[in-house]
Formats: sequence, C-alpha cells, structure tokens
Amino acid sequence: MKIVYANFVISSPDVNKCPDPTKPEYAFIGRSNVGKSSLINMLTGRKKLAKISSTPGKTMLINHFIINEQWYLVDLPGYGFAKRSKTDRAKWDKMIRKYILNRTSMLTLFLLVDIRIEPQQIDLDFIDWLGVSNIPFVITFTKADKLKHIQIANKVSAYKSKLAQTWEQIPPMIVTSSTTSLGRDEVLSLIEKTNKVFD
Ligand code: GTP
Ligand code: MG
Repeated sequence: MKIVYANFVISSPDVNKCPDPTKPEYAFIGRSNVGKSSLINMLTGRKKLAKISSTPGKTMLINHFIINEQWYLVDLPGYGFAKRSKTDRAKWDKMIRKYILNRTSMLTLFLLVDIRIEPQQIDLDFIDWLGVSNIPFVITFTKADKLKHIQIANKVSAYKSKLAQTWEQIPPMIVTSSTTSLGRDEVLSLIEKTNKVFD
C-alpha cells in the first residue's frame, strides 16, 4: 500500500472527543520512549508528523493522523513513565482503557515492545488485559536495528516462550525498526487487509 497523504487531525483528551468513528483506525501503544511516534513517522514517510518527545510522559492526548483520506493512525500516550504521579497514572489508565474498550473503529492495536529488553511485567500485564478484553493486537518489536539477526530471532522466541506460559495462542508479532524501515511493508499490508474487512 502506498501512502500518498498523511496529516495531523486532532489531539483529544478523551475518546468522546475523537473524530467520528466512521473510518478504520490503528493505534500505537507501549511504554514511554519505546518508539510509538517514530514508528508512525516511519510508516508514513513523514519525519516530523508525530512529535518525538524530548519530555516523555508529559502529554496525555489521543493523537489522530489521517492517511490517504481513508483511515487513521493513532498515537497514544505511553505508559510506565517513572516520574509520572499516581494521579496521572490513574488518569492514563482510565483514559486508555476507555479508548480501547469503546473505540469501535479501532481495528488493531499495535503494542510496542523494545526488542532489546527482557519481557517487562507492565507489558505482560497489559497483554493479559488485552487478551481477556478480546482486543485484536499485534506485538510490535521496535529498535531492531540495535541487534544482529540472530539476536532478533532469539529475543522473539524468548518472548513467545514467556507468553506461552499464560496463553494458548501466541499473538501475532512484527519486528520493526524506525531507522531502517524494517517491518514497514508487513505493518502496512496488515492494515490494508484489515481496511478491506471494514469496508
Ligand atoms: P512517548 O511519546 O514519550 O511515549 O515516546 P514514544 O514511544 O513515542 O517514543 P519516540 O518515538 O519519541 O522515540 C523515543 C526515542 O527512541 C527517540 O530518541 C527515538 O529516536 C528512538 N527510537 C525510536 N524508534 C527507534 C528505532 O527503531 N531505532 C532506534 N535506533 N531508535 C529509535
Ligand atoms: Mg510519542
């Protein structure tokens, strides 16, 4: 799929303030600094479309980007930011869960995980919650340019083994790098296929 047009639409504090749910959308979530905004920029080929934050965890907004006038990419605020207050964490939790559970037009959630690090409890808990909530998601490894091929394969299979301890079915996984554009075609073809189902 070719991306001929990509533009920022709106930042919303709440799912109720998001654009009308008439177009399919794909959201990106994961720990602060994992590379959500960078991945959106890589997919769209627009380096400055989504803001790469120098102050992680600051904004708690749902950011919509319109692609080819037909579907949305959605940049969500990250979680697991250590300096965030308890009140802010609770606010994040409420806002995100409400968005994920109620946004009928959100067809797939890309859950980003830094490929270099061991499975983190905060991600595993979030994966469990997505599973029990029946949310279609793809585990999307980021920053693969930092590892060699063999290390990538090992990390992916280690993550699979970890999930196999709790889940009978392992969710789909895609390996990406925003620097080398690895995984770009795979993500875009998944979106293209899913868009057709929405039609
Ligand atoms: P928050 O919005 O704060 O939650 O962060 P984010 O998940 O949007 O991360 P962001 O895209 O801002 O990237 C965080 C840092 O990681 C930046 O310094 C990026 O340049 C870097 N980064 C992101 N993706 C990659 C990647 O694939 N490879 C490498 N080498 N660096 C990356
Ligand atoms: Mg970001």
